[in-house]
Amino acid sequence: MSVNLNQTNIDLDDPNFQTVFANLQGNILKGHGRDYARHVFFCLGQDEVANRRWVRQMSEKVTSMLEQGRQHQAFKQFGKQDHLFVNLMLSATGYRKLGIPREQWPDDSAFLAGMKDLDQSYDTSPRGNHKPTANPLNDDLSQWEPAFSQDMDGMLIFALSGQSDDVEKTLNDLVREMKDSLNGIGHIVVVQHGHVMRNDKQQVIEHFGFTDGVSNPKFLFSELTEEFRNGGYRNNDPSAPLNLVMVPDPGGDHASFGTYVVYRKLQQNIKGFWQRADMLANTLSENTGRTISAKYAGALCVGRFQDGTPISEQSGDGWTNLFNNFNFNDDAGGLKCPLHAHVRKTNPRGDTVRQFNSPPTIERSRRIVRRGISFGEAELQPSQEWTEAGLLFLSFQASIVDQFIFMQHTWCNNEDFLHGDVGLDPLVGQLKENESPKPQSWSKGWGSPTAEQVSFSFSGFVRMKGGEYFFMPSLHFLKNLPV
Ligand code: HEM
Repeated sequence: MSVNLNQTNIDLDDPNFQTVFANLQGNILKGHGRDYARHVFFCLGQDEVANRRWVRQMSEKVTSMLEQGRQHQAFKQFGKQDHLFVNLMLSATGYRKLGIPREQWPDDSAFLAGMKDLDQSYDTSPRGNHKPTANPLNDDLSQWEPAFSQDMDGMLIFALSGQSDDVEKTLNDLVREMKDSLNGIGHIVVVQHGHVMRNDKQQVIEHFGFTDGVSNPKFLFSELTEEFRNGGYRNNDPSAPLNLVMVPDPGGDHASFGTYVVYRKLQQNIKGFWQRADMLANTLSENTGRTISAKYAGALCVGRFQDGTPISEQSGDGWTNLFNNFNFNDDAGGLKCPLHAHVRKTNPRGDTVRQFNSPPTIERSRRIVRRGISFGEAELQPSQEWTEAGLLFLSFQASIVDQFIFMQHTWCNNEDFLHGDVGLDPLVGQLKENESPKPQSWSKGWGSPTAEQVSFSFSGFVRMKGGEYFFMPSLHFLKNLPV
């Protein structure tokens, strides 16, 4: 039976999906939710049969969507999430070293070129002039960590929750076992250590201290029900069809699907960010008789306060935390939430419909599924700039070009999106090395059409340290590799 990927709100027990979910890797339709992770990047050797045997052996550890669902049920019942979670993904060089026939390769052009190929051009124009752009992300390979400059044929994610010492030991043991099993076949290139950080309300946060992982496309009935309970859908529909993230796996059978993966190690300058936020706050306070805090200035950059409250939402008695149930319909000019704010650049919630008359389905089709995790010391007030801290950004999508690259290039890095005076996304907007950013415009009065607008440059506190594009294939493909 063929599977209709236009569906959403899928029940994990839906009989039509049991074979698909047994074949689909976990973490795609729902985050694995573990607190600690190892991202183990590996490089294979020249013996295709030995490579296939090893990958096939590793695939026995991989957690399917079906298994993840069962583990989650057990977690809800017994309150402990102590199952190991494993994902396995391959890059285009990995497909080559496994000797996979070309007709079985995923065909996304970014996946095929790899992230290091800065000469590859991509069509990132929403309409009109389809002039392809080379290096649309404005990456600078000289800034990358040397490990990421090597061939990365694939990556395994090991993730686990529990007592930190025990978990760290188990994860280290798993990496050691993997290293041993690769002996004579290939080698581990680099291992990234991820860990979830939480604030005192136990919300997951990133290094600037903001709640992260709040807004994501939702595919499952259980996830949509939870979102409904948290805030409702009146002003924002978080549901997404499966084809936003799932594509048929050309190497598997009719019930085999995979997803494309973007991995980017993003270092954060925490001290620099908050110093700049303080300067912005002082500038916004000048001659107003009010004291604006750095926290408020930070919220103008992100579009949410640190606890996740959207900056666009106030009711009579102050800020209202509508979780995710908000849009910018009554803030077309960006007087409440700046048009450059990170959450507005990356999810314009109707801005492109108003500005360009483009159908809402197109804007919604750009969404990505974020599954990143922080790395480095959980020190929210470091004394130095550019400490070893940041985000291991990981996104899943059906098209790297039309979703992640489009979002980063055409929205975040584009000073002319939504229109000419908006400027960069202050968090992740990145220009080419020799370009200097235009200042963004900031309002001295929230929501006030008469308030003074101030020009102030805010960018450069996140730096790209390396990454790769991958495909996360079906278990059917991995378990049937010919050996
Ligand atoms: C170190 C780098 C980054 C940091 C610190 C960061 C931080 C945040 C925070 C605090 C939020 C708001 C909470 C939430 O909805 O989860 C958010 C949302 C989001 N971010 Fe990032 N982010 C980073 C990189 C990126 C990149 C590279 C992209 C893609 C180009 C991206 C895309 C998104 C999207 C799509 C949302 C959800 C917007 C929405 O639906 O409202 N982020 N990020």
